[in-house]
Amino acid sequence: MIKVKKRKILLLPGDGIGPEVIKEVKKIIEWFNKNRSLDFEVDQDLVGGAAYDKFKTPITDEVFFKALECEAVILGAVGGPKWDNLDFSKKPERALLKLRKELKLFANLRPAICFKQLVDASSLKPEIVSGLDIMIVRELTGGIYFGEPRGIKLINNGERKGINTHTYTSTEIERVAKVAFELAKKRNNKVTSCEKSNVMEAGQLWKEEVQALHKKDYKDINLEHMLADNCAMQLLRNPKQFDVIVTDNLFGDILSDEAAMLTGSLGLLPSASLGAKDKDGNLRSMYEPVHGSAPDIAGKGIANPIATILSFSMALKYSLNLDKESIELDNAVQKVLDDGLRTKDIISKGKKEVSTSTMGDAIIAYLQK
Ligand code: IPM
Ligand code: MG
Repeated sequence: MIKVKKRKILLLPGDGIGPEVIKEVKKIIEWFNKNRSLDFEVDQDLVGGAAYDKFKTPITDEVFFKALECEAVILGAVGGPKWDNLDFSKKPERALLKLRKELKLFANLRPAICFKQLVDASSLKPEIVSGLDIMIVRELTGGIYFGEPRGIKLINNGERKGINTHTYTSTEIERVAKVAFELAKKRNNKVTSCEKSNVMEAGQLWKEEVQALHKKDYKDINLEHMLADNCAMQLLRNPKQFDVIVTDNLFGDILSDEAAMLTGSLGLLPSASLGAKDKDGNLRSMYEPVHGSAPDIAGKGIANPIATILSFSMALKYSLNLDKESIELDNAVQKVLDDGLRTKDIISKGKKEVSTSTMGDAIIAYLQK
């Protein structure tokens, strides 16, 4: 077997169910190394609360530099009640935000696909969700998550004021809109841009910049503007009207959780966070499941590893140029669902409930076939 160049992957399991779901991805990577002419070089390190417990910081410089040097970061989840009372700068979530910001991962792709096997797991009627396949493109390095000024300050009479600032520049809007239009070209040619241009100037700018880019370069794509609250409602009323949704950091956070539930479970939704290509054509990227650390079920071996496994599949496709392997892995997930295997979050009558690791093993067994 001819071995190709080493592909560096950094696994950051993080907190809660993160380590359990990342373990399944690690097994899959090992399987690829053994059975295909691929050579993934895997490194693993601490991030989030796990890093705080050991080093008193949610991400050490060493780990940050490792993230800069690898081809793809696969992150589990960060955070949990244990670290809720830490100073803001020490909170596990700061690690995630630092990675996103400093790796300049401005485009967060969150596909929401309702698998035919899981139509009944959704809380919506089957005819509303069956065949659903939408892509949310969330801006990830701007908006209220990072805007200045921010903080909690003392005003008069012991009264305090919490401050966050929602800002966007035209460049920030344009580059993420471009990602959305390019994706729509390869999908169903429709982009819905969401903002609150009725109450926010930054929303008005968002709308104008998306419109201008459309006019300049993407006239053939069907562009629709929608207020974010209406979008939240339309996602429940008729989600199949959407193809690609592009929106800011905060609305994207909220709308993607909502879209995830249309598919039956947060445990199924992967995501890719992408930056711009550098001068050598390399792309910085990080992949993570949309679900959080789920501390209530951590350590029980019942978490659904599919979102993380599909995140790795997105890494194969977007960062590692391994489309064939990505499709193979997606198909293996489908086969296991066809067989009726389900983790607790997606269990329904007549199906077989399995643990996190049995789910991972079953997916590997289909790769083997
Ligand atoms: C997400 C999460 C994060 C976010 C948290 C953990 C900081 O909810 O990726 O959607 O708000 O972006
Ligand atoms: Mg979120």
